Amino acid sequence: MSMRYLLLAGLLLVATSPAVRAADADSPGRAAYLRYCGACHGPEGKGDGVAGTFIRPKPTNLTRIAKTNAGKFPFQRVMDVIDGRRTVRAHGDPDMPVWGEIFREEAPNDQAARAEVAGKVMLLTEYIQSIQGK
Ligand code: HEC
Repeated sequence: MSMRYLLLAGLLLVATSPAVRAADADSPGRAAYLRYCGACHGPEGKGDGVAGTFIRPKPTNLTRIAKTNAGKFPFQRVMDVIDGRRTVRAHGDPDMPVWGEIFREEAPNDQAARAEVAGKVMLLTEYIQSIQGK
């Protein structure tokens, strides 16, 4: 999944601006986000999802990751957090699902699984990067 695709989706949104809200969910990154993450992190990524209300620590406000990191979006770290298998957190934090495993289970075979996981994690990370500071 490439940055170019997201840029294209962005241009389409501008082009159809009266319908921006409706068209919003058509961006593949946002669609994936709403499906897997929105329940906890909130529809706009502000950490105010319905399911998140019952979780301690509260789900992170994903729109402020860059801000709390000296203004720079830590792309690799966010990818690692979402994948979950590469971090210590995978062993210690039951509240944040290990998405790398879940995406893998959804794929039909091993090679497809690797591509599927990398693609989804990348897509979601690009989406989160796109909502910084909003
Ligand atoms: C079951 C609720 C839940 C779901 C669903 C969920 N998260 Fe989380 N997430 C959390 C919680 C809780 C934390 C905070 C954990 C902590 O502070 O130790 C967190 C933390 C994070 C962080 C760390 C931010 C930072 O700065 O360290 C990122 C990034 C993140 N989530 C992304 C995602 C993405 C992307 C998805 C969807 C694929 C997702 N989350 C789905 C509960 C959830």
